[in-house]
Amino acid sequence: KHITVLKGGPSAERQISLKTASAVESALCALGYELTAVDVINEKFELPESTEICFLCIHGTFGEDGQIQRLLMRRGIPFTGSDAASSEKAFDKVWSKKLFVQGGIPTPPFFVVGEEKKLPFGPPYVIKPSRQGSSIGVEFVYTMEDFEEAVRKSKQFDHVVIAETLIKGRELTVAILDNKALPIVEIKPKKGFYDYQNKYTKGASEYICPALLTKSQVEAVQKTALDAFHVLGCSIYGRVDIILSENGVPWVLEINTIPGMTETSLFPMAAKAAGLNFAELCEKIVELSFF
Ligand code: DAL
Ligand code: MG
Repeated sequence: KHITVLKGGPSAERQISLKTASAVESALCALGYELTAVDVINEKFELPESTEICFLCIHGTFGEDGQIQRLLMRRGIPFTGSDAASSEKAFDKVWSKKLFVQGGIPTPPFFVVGEEKKLPFGPPYVIKPSRQGSSIGVEFVYTMEDFEEAVRKSKQFDHVVIAETLIKGRELTVAILDNKALPIVEIKPKKGFYDYQNKYTKGASEYICPALLTKSQVEAVQKTALDAFHVLGCSIYGRVDIILSENGVPWVLEINTIPGMTETSLFPMAAKAAGLNFAELCEKIVELSFF
């Protein structure tokens, strides 16, 4: 049993990808797989001769945006997770949000900065690079005075930047595995928003899994998450980030097709609540992807 782990990658999320890979490598090793790990610096990386199947541990640009998936598909090498087309859609917030709207999935109203002569709605905004992860380049804007500076900062991470309406509500995430939604995680940062710092600093956020929701809230959130996953054509596994507003609407923010698998990550937390430990989760992803 041999698996190649593709890790690292050139994106701003490189350090997280390395942590994900190290956790996945330990688990696969313990399961008895023979591993080769390849640090993917850019599209010129060399795959070892022995490569038959790849476990992808690369978040963000090149790893999660369909590029590496397309390359592997061209070479006929199976890999974990969603295919190239759905990865590309999910990683592009402009594209995925348009598809959510078409598919009847609630997603916060937004516009592409620079595309509108007259802004269609006012602040508060969440300014986001269209193609980026881990909240890198995300800025909150409460008055128009701060708009331009926020856009300038966000543009450092993608030339396409969106302004979304800031929706107030509970921050939830839904892990999808094998076409089923796992128990919902609620995230409560101790201070401010669930930004990069609050995502990856141990103890900076409180996580509740399963989230304390009514049965009908759980059903609505899980159904919306699954619908969003299907609208983009995602498969095997992924994590859908949602804000549940006070009036009970689950607003889909985005889908992560290669969700973090670090110590503080949410996908393994949800799997655990469903009775799967980390190694069992990795094994399940392998089985679903290759067998
Ligand atoms: N983009 C990070 C890795 C996540 O969603 O977990
Ligand atoms: Mg993301």
